[in-house]
Amino acid sequence: MSSLAVIHAAQLVTLAGPKRPRVGAGMADLAIIRDGGMLIRDGKIDSVGPSDEIEKKSRGAEIVDAGGRVVLPGFVDAHTHLVFAGNRLDDFERRAHGESYQQISKAGGGIWSTVEKTRAASDHDLLLQAKKHAEWFLRCGTTTVEAKSGYGLTVEDELKILRVMERLNKETPLEIVPTFLGAHAVPREMDADEYVELMLAQMLPRIAREKLAEFCDVFCERGYFDVERSRRILTAARELGLRLRIHTDQLSNSGGAKLAAELEATTADHLEKTDGHGIAALKSAGVQPVLLPGSVYALGSPDYPRVREMIEAGLAVVIATDFNPGSSPTPSMPMILSLACTQMKMSPAEATTAATINGAYSLNRGEKIGSLERGKLANFSIFDCEDYRELAYWFGVPQTHSVYVRGKRIV
Ligand code: NIG
Ligand code: FE
Repeated sequence: MSSLAVIHAAQLVTLAGPKRPRVGAGMADLAIIRDGGMLIRDGKIDSVGPSDEIEKKSRGAEIVDAGGRVVLPGFVDAHTHLVFAGNRLDDFERRAHGESYQQISKAGGGIWSTVEKTRAASDHDLLLQAKKHAEWFLRCGTTTVEAKSGYGLTVEDELKILRVMERLNKETPLEIVPTFLGAHAVPREMDADEYVELMLAQMLPRIAREKLAEFCDVFCERGYFDVERSRRILTAARELGLRLRIHTDQLSNSGGAKLAAELEATTADHLEKTDGHGIAALKSAGVQPVLLPGSVYALGSPDYPRVREMIEAGLAVVIATDFNPGSSPTPSMPMILSLACTQMKMSPAEATTAATINGAYSLNRGEKIGSLERGKLANFSIFDCEDYRELAYWFGVPQTHSVYVRGKRIV
């Protein structure tokens, strides 16, 4: 049996607490242990406590002295588009000249341009680029990501992307939770109804049969998939045993938050334009909001989601990167913590909860990851600071000291 003892964390940010997503004032309770430590056996947390107590139990264990730094659970990034080819530097420059995301998309940039590059890429090249992205996530302290397909939009190309995720899961230490997002855009070669039929008749049954995804997502937005088409796709996915997530109310208040509630989706994501009615609907169905301030920032929009109202309403808020080449080219959860605090007015503690344990519950993994508690996987990061609030405060500075997955150092 291999054992590892981490000792002398200035703050061991455990997030220990009730076995459910955290809401209301509970989001600000991080259960920090000063001069904390933990004993890890065979990749799992055996005990957590003050350093001196842990040291006493650690005879024979390999010792990691955190040296007065901060120890946090690995970030759980519950919304990414990790697998794609190329970049969108031209879109980026056009936005700098004042064009909007929607204008650029109509003019041949946007999601479609990444679809063309992703279709043209070989499995090998796609995997190679995805491994580079995985490395970025790990270096920022993220140990689990949800990853969406959606840059293929044909049966073969969507499967190609999901299979790259399967290989990433096996070949890198980053844990990938796969989501099928065939409904990311309507492909140029068919109309919306034909494409919905293709998803229902071929893509979804195959993906469910081959167990290539745990969740199904839809971009429910004007010009992409309206509420009626989104409902058809998500209902079919649910019948095949997939759980649901929905991109909605990003560019307009499209009614998708209500659809998420009606279908009892696990999450509704973006929600920049969601109003009080949408928030009440999410609350009534226990849907977790996944907020993506990186995309608001990178698109240069002033409209951050109404997170204070969501927390007051008792929603179990999650924050995530939305890592993608168009609207949010960042893999950095510390950057998202900064935006959550400065732009959305979350407290550093609320943001930390939203980036760890609440993200874990939104991926159906709240019992395994997201906090440092006995029995959970030993996925954690050591950061070069003395107070967890420094992660959100010093922005643009890498503070990662080291990262561990299942008790093994990988960064
Ligand atoms: O979450 N909104 C839809 N999908 C992504 C953007 C994808 C892209 O622009 O390539 C998002 O923002
Ligand atoms: Fe997204």
